[in-house]
Amino acid sequence: MNTIKPLDHIANTKAYVPGGKLQGATGPVAMLASNENPFGPSPRAVEAIRNAAAEGLQIYPDPDYGALRAAIAMAKGIADPARVVTSAGSDEIIHLLTQCYAGPGDEVLFTEHAFSMYEVSTRAHGATAVKAPETDMKAGVNAILGGVSPRTKILFLANPNNPTGTMLSVEELKALQDALPPHVLFVVDGAYSEYLGPEYEAALRDLVDRRDTTVMMRTFSKIYGLAAARLGWAYMPRPIADTFQRIRGPFNVNALAVAAGIASVGDDAFLAMSREHNTLWRAKMTEALNAMGLPTPESHANFVVPEFGSAARAAEANQFLKDADILVRAIGGYGLPTKLRITVGSAEDNTRVLDALQAFTAKR
Ligand SMILES: Cc1ncc(COP(=O)(O)O)c(C=O)c1O
Repeated sequence: MNTIKPLDHIANTKAYVPGGKLQGATGPVAMLASNENPFGPSPRAVEAIRNAAAEGLQIYPDPDYGALRAAIAMAKGIADPARVVTSAGSDEIIHLLTQCYAGPGDEVLFTEHAFSMYEVSTRAHGATAVKAPETDMKAGVNAILGGVSPRTKILFLANPNNPTGTMLSVEELKALQDALPPHVLFVVDGAYSEYLGPEYEAALRDLVDRRDTTVMMRTFSKIYGLAAARLGWAYMPRPIADTFQRIRGPFNVNALAVAAGIASVGDDAFLAMSREHNTLWRAKMTEALNAMGLPTPESHANFVVPEFGSAARAAEANQFLKDADILVRAIGGYGLPTKLRITVGSAEDNTRVLDALQAFTAKR
């Protein structure tokens, strides 16, 4: 027997729990657990991946990712592509920023129901997780500032947040940014920002330009429909970008993801179509769930979060949906055991989940 042991803080890190697959399904499964785009990616991305595969996967990708960074900068109105970094999914951005800026004895701050990779990454790097309380699933500027200490190295804030769907206004983000002390790196996670539209995307970009302590991270996994390709990016001050580039793997983004990203980042018609579908169905689902007696607050992302009144009832509903081959996300691990998170999917899948929940609530 060997005596090999992981570092204590690694041994104490709980793994991220993904949405997973449905075991034993008898028909087509409605996949509404991971906030993926029901339309898949832009056709431009699929064609680019085919071409890139045909051209030869034996060649390493360009380690500078210059063409991808330039395409992102161009599509998102960013003047200096050197301040754009790319990654294998935005999870890698979370990990690399934590690795660069926080370690044992440091604190990383996020809100009570924040995206769980912030905590996984904090613990994996030996830093201490600090959670600012939310009120009714909503983060607040003062509550966040109350969590800042001289040891706080990073504040992660997804806006809109996953799994709550709530968000701070741009004015609130600016107020928070203005009040943060200069030793705190403010990381705004815009994973769902495209669902609000180009104006909001530009507001997040401009936030980075207001301070030399703010980073905006983004993903191709949600509205871009490229979750399987694993592609993320971030816009950041130059010294932070230089630090990040120093420690990332030299070929952290694969060539197929590069091709898909370049081809689809500026496909505004695809984004608008996906956004409009989401806005329409999110409103329909919110209204229908509320009408069923499942209180569902306004969401700003591509999912809704109905309340079932108790953890037991939410678990029962989850099982009822699974039995109907519908996969949604239980969010007890996020401190929200009485709720389920339901992705806005295709019209057909949305109708299926609403019909199933109607049948479930009608049972008593
Ligand atoms: C808020 C938020 N940030 C980041 C991610 C990670 O996305 P990816 O690693 O697929 O880019 C997710 C995925 O669910 C998310 O919800």
